[in-house]
Amino acid sequence: MEAILLAITIFLTTLTLIFAYIAYTERKKRERALATLRLNRPKEEKLSQKIDNTKLLARALSLIREGIVVMDPYGRIIFTNKFARELLDIHPEDIGKFFYQAIRNFDVISMINESFNEKYRAWQEKKIKDKYVQIIFGSDMDEKVLLLIDLTPIKKYENLKKDFIANVSHELKTPVAAMKLSLETLEEECRDKPEAEKFLRKAIERVNYMEQLIEDLITLSMLESVNFPVKIVGIKLRSFVERIVHDLSELAEKKGVKVEINIPEDVRIKADEKMFHAIMKNLIDNAIKYNKEGGEVTVGFRDLVRETEIYVCDTGPGIPKSHIPFIFERFYRVERSRSRKLGGTGLGLSIVKLAIERLKGKVEVESEEGKGTCFKIYLPKS
Ligand SMILES: Nc1ncnc2c1ncn2[C@@H]1O[C@H](COP(=O)(O)OP(=O)(O)OP(=O)(O)O)[C@@H](O)[C@H]1O
Ligand SMILES: [Mg+2]
Repeated sequence: MEAILLAITIFLTTLTLIFAYIAYTERKKRERALATLRLNRPKEEKLSQKIDNTKLLARALSLIREGIVVMDPYGRIIFTNKFARELLDIHPEDIGKFFYQAIRNFDVISMINESFNEKYRAWQEKKIKDKYVQIIFGSDMDEKVLLLIDLTPIKKYENLKKDFIANVSHELKTPVAAMKLSLETLEEECRDKPEAEKFLRKAIERVNYMEQLIEDLITLSMLESVNFPVKIVGIKLRSFVERIVHDLSELAEKKGVKVEINIPEDVRIKADEKMFHAIMKNLIDNAIKYNKEGGEVTVGFRDLVRETEIYVCDTGPGIPKSHIPFIFERFYRVERSRSRKLGGTGLGLSIVKLAIERLKGKVEVESEEGKGTCFKIYLPKS
């Protein structure tokens, strides 16, 4: 009997233990399942949030008037916004293709090609379709980004401003010329009245200044206008410079400045005659005007591999280093009063800079205080 009772007790205890074990494992399973559920839910939420954010960003980027093209490190298109697609004729099915297959603008393709491995590159504005855009290429991260900034409204405003200045200058030209003529006639009439003559001389000086200012403003707007074409012709350098020096001989004689031309007879350069004349006249005029009494000006030439260097050096007081970065700005004068007295408008060097840019060349300055200044221009041979 005792043995039976012991067997029943052992059996019941084992059964209880089995049930307890089953209940324990079931609970653990449930807990693990719950834990996985808890872990998974935020992940899903994050993912859907991410998708929403990407969509939102794409929608926002489609509204802006700047173009964006994102490429992978190999140049395959990952993303484009509406403005870029319309400007570069990229079709929706082009996503995933290489930029040279997707972009339908040869200039932009060669620009990307040229600087594919550069970190950053910005190009001057370019006309694409009917828009003026500045193109920026950046690849300082894994992806490469092409930005197209629409400058059309700014350009329109700038053109309006330029047209306004050009129109005003043209309108002023005739009345100022008439005024000058009247004053000169009056001056003749007042030869025997020294006091009146003195005032008239002053008035004529101011009118001359106004005339020069109008002339310079017209030249500047002409150089800035895209409608003004660059006509490259062959120029015999020495005789061209001799003519300019001859036109400025009165000024040189007044200051006792000697102008030397170090250019062989047979040198020919390629440039637009009007633009090259504006450059050389301004540089030689400055070299005489800002020279010391009895000083020297040398105009010379050096034949380089791809360019022609033409230099104008003087023995004047030089330009302080701190002023050099600004001398090509409009109306900038190192010594305002002195330059005004010499009849300068402060527009000469900005004309030089614009003209040389239109000729695809460059201008450099070397100056030493107390010794003199050299302006060097570089003109491309082809
Ligand atoms: N060769 C030079 N030597 C010393 N200073 C110079 C020389 N060339 C230019 N500068 C300085 O740079 C300034 C700007 O020159 P820029 O030719 O633009 O104007 P400007 O000579 O005053 O007037 P404009 O040429 O219109 O008659 C001058 O006012 C002068 O102070
Ligand atoms: Mg000048």
